[in-house]
Amino acid sequence: MALTPAAGGCGESPASSVPIQSPRPVNTEVEWDGFDPQAYVRHNYADLRSDDRELLRRTRDFFAGAKLADARCVDVGSGANLYPALTLLPFAYTIDLCEWSTSNVRWLRTQVDGYDELWDPYWQVCVEHPAYAALPDPRRRLAQVGRVCRTSVFDLPQHTWDAGTMFFVACSISADRAEAEHAVARFLRALRPGSPFAVAVMLGSAGYRVGPRFFPAVALQRAEVVAGIAAGAYDVTVHEERPRPSLRDGYLSMLLATGRTRG
Ligand SMILES: C[S@@+](CC[C@H](N)C(=O)[O-])C[C@H]1O[C@@H](n2cnc3c(N)ncnc32)[C@H](O)[C@@H]1O
Repeated sequence: MALTPAAGGCGESPASSVPIQSPRPVNTEVEWDGFDPQAYVRHNYADLRSDDRELLRRTRDFFAGAKLADARCVDVGSGANLYPALTLLPFAYTIDLCEWSTSNVRWLRTQVDGYDELWDPYWQVCVEHPAYAALPDPRRRLAQVGRVCRTSVFDLPQHTWDAGTMFFVACSISADRAEAEHAVARFLRALRPGSPFAVAVMLGSAGYRVGPRFFPAVALQRAEVVAGIAAGAYDVTVHEERPRPSLRDGYLSMLLATGRTRG
């Protein structure tokens, strides 16, 4: 279902689609519309890897324990990954999937209408928890509550949602450290005070390939990510996933932080 802009507070804003020219591009210098969601999914999510399984399990258990019901939820920078949204599904009145790349927005609309079988193993992990097992038809439910919205993390309205996820976005939307910090702050501030959230980032990322294209990243360190999240949150729990050997190229580990927003 397409999102009505006013309903979730999501509006469009101008952003340039200038090809990458700078060696350390900022977000608006990256050609996000050239992001190939099929290639990204094939490379990252075609098989459920042990590191994603662990993040999914922990996020599932966190939201299941958060006493949420009929919540207005948001997933920011959804790109071509549905599992953060699946963790919100049993508790959601609506889920706004906010994404900036037009190619990813198109892909998300097809997936909200009826997602690919590839995501079934991810849902199988969810249903290991009774709160998720109680939901008989997740595909239908996502089609009912999911709303795709083209908006930038930097333009999110304040105090709009009751719960949220943002996976692999702050680290992977530019090579500018200040933008990573800003993205985390904007995400946390988009949630109402006391809202449960889950944020995942790559630590030490050197950038990533999607098909033939290269996208920039910031080599974040654990301490700075935790400090940025703690500035806008309480009851923060941090888990670091360091599979050896590494399951993906060009990063050191994956960090998951859950907690509640200060507002
Ligand atoms: C590394 S991908 C992560 C995608 C997905 N969340 C995941 O878990 O795999 C980064 C995503 O951020 C999106 N993005 C880039 N700039 C953005 C912005 N200003 N606001 C929101 N999303 C943005 C990209 O289009 C891409 O989908």
